[in-house]
Amino acid sequence: MTTASPGRAQEFIRDYQTWHGLPPLAGLGTLAEAVEPGLSVEESVRRLKRHHYAFRRLHQIFIGRLTAEPVYELKMAFSHHGWLCAEHVAAIRARVGEMREPPLGLEAVPHAGLEQALDEILAAPTTEELLLGLYEVVLPELQGALERHAAAAHVLADQPTRRWLKFARIELAEMLDYGRKAVSALVTAEQRLAAAAGLQAVRQGLAAAGGLDGLAPEGHLPARVRSAVPWKFDGRPQRDGRFPDPYNMGVNAEVFLYDDALPADGKVLMMFYKRLREIDVPEMMASILAETPDQPWGYYRDLTRQLWDEARHAMMGEVGFASVGVDWAATVRVNFTWSLGLNTQLTAKERHAVLYFIEQGLMPKTGKRHEWEVGLRSGNPLAATFQDFDWADEVLHARVGRDWYVSSMPSAHEAVDYGDRCWSKVLSNWAGWRESGLTQHANWWPPAYAQYCDRNGVQPDPVALNYSVSYETVRADLKDVSASG
Ligand SMILES: [Fe+2]
Ligand SMILES: [Fe+2]
Ligand SMILES: [Fe+2]
Repeated sequence: MTTASPGRAQEFIRDYQTWHGLPPLAGLGTLAEAVEPGLSVEESVRRLKRHHYAFRRLHQIFIGRLTAEPVYELKMAFSHHGWLCAEHVAAIRARVGEMREPPLGLEAVPHAGLEQALDEILAAPTTEELLLGLYEVVLPELQGALERHAAAAHVLADQPTRRWLKFARIELAEMLDYGRKAVSALVTAEQRLAAAAGLQAVRQGLAAAGGLDGLAPEGHLPARVRSAVPWKFDGRPQRDGRFPDPYNMGVNAEVFLYDDALPADGKVLMMFYKRLREIDVPEMMASILAETPDQPWGYYRDLTRQLWDEARHAMMGEVGFASVGVDWAATVRVNFTWSLGLNTQLTAKERHAVLYFIEQGLMPKTGKRHEWEVGLRSGNPLAATFQDFDWADEVLHARVGRDWYVSSMPSAHEAVDYGDRCWSKVLSNWAGWRESGLTQHANWWPPAYAQYCDRNGVQPDPVALNYSVSYETVRADLKDVSASG
């Protein structure tokens, strides 16, 4: 049946009544919206594929740049925003698979201009240009594309797409809000000027693609500026000024934690240190993600979730120290030796093996449960909450390891063994770093503990105050370093 006069639909529905004036259409919207034809399946999928490409590349940029980004807060934000992007990629892939399209063609680049625009941001020569490219150019473009899609998609027929668009726009708005604040905190007028040529290239790339959603007329593809030399992942972790002694392995937190003679509140401090030190896990996992191509999206999604969890654990440590008045930047020495060693000495597969080996070792009674019980016993409810969730997250990570690492090994036993061997390979330079002057492995613990006692009116425990065990001979899983090598 053909519609006699579609133009009169709005007129006809003016008198339309629902039962007792109930909201129509299960609350999705009005009749006036629903009688408009909206986008076809084909056009909605075409736009979804563009959003998908943008989120996928943004995920790559956030994750790929976090290891060599010195500023701790930005590392954490990139971990968060990278994970949000990974989730949206997964949601779009699921939705496209529901729209008469096998989820194929999702790996294809929708337009060379889009590819080039995102390559230019990925290769931004400075943090400031990176922030401007992400938060002032591409994310606002993406937000605009999602808004146009939501306005044009049919309120009833394409409701599942609109629902995803709604959530994505909320999270994009939060990302943009963070980005605006980061830009205003960090980017000077001179830096903005220095970034102009690179940002112009990003804008021209987007214009060549007819905008992110391709609705504008296409421009011509400009010459590459920042991405003329293809970007390469930089796996050497960088830290800001609050990490002045990044090779320091002078305080062995694990030996302290398992010593029954030492007090619970000191152990809580050591756990805050262990949590904050987890900043090295995102730095390391980013290298696995950046250097392991051609996996199913579930791989990237799960590993990115784990990366983000580890970033949250690091921030739990930061919050923990702040909550007991310890100035961690001034007293605690958080190193990067683990991420540096793994990123520069092992392959991506070997790094994943080490990660799995360590995390499955956290599961027995002496591991995460012990830390949680210490938190409970300490009378510090914040520490108990943090350890409770740290433990829950680690159970998830052990599963991620089984799904994506153990499954690629001949047996579960070989998977653990291989991880142990790979870890031993990188953990041997304690004395070398000292001899070459990279660190003195200074025992930072007594002043940190003393500050805690002082600010909380606690009488220092003499044994705790004199604690002085380093990682020279005992590694973090309490294995003997020489025996394990
Ligand atoms: Fe962790
Ligand atoms: Fe953790
Ligand atoms: Fe973990």
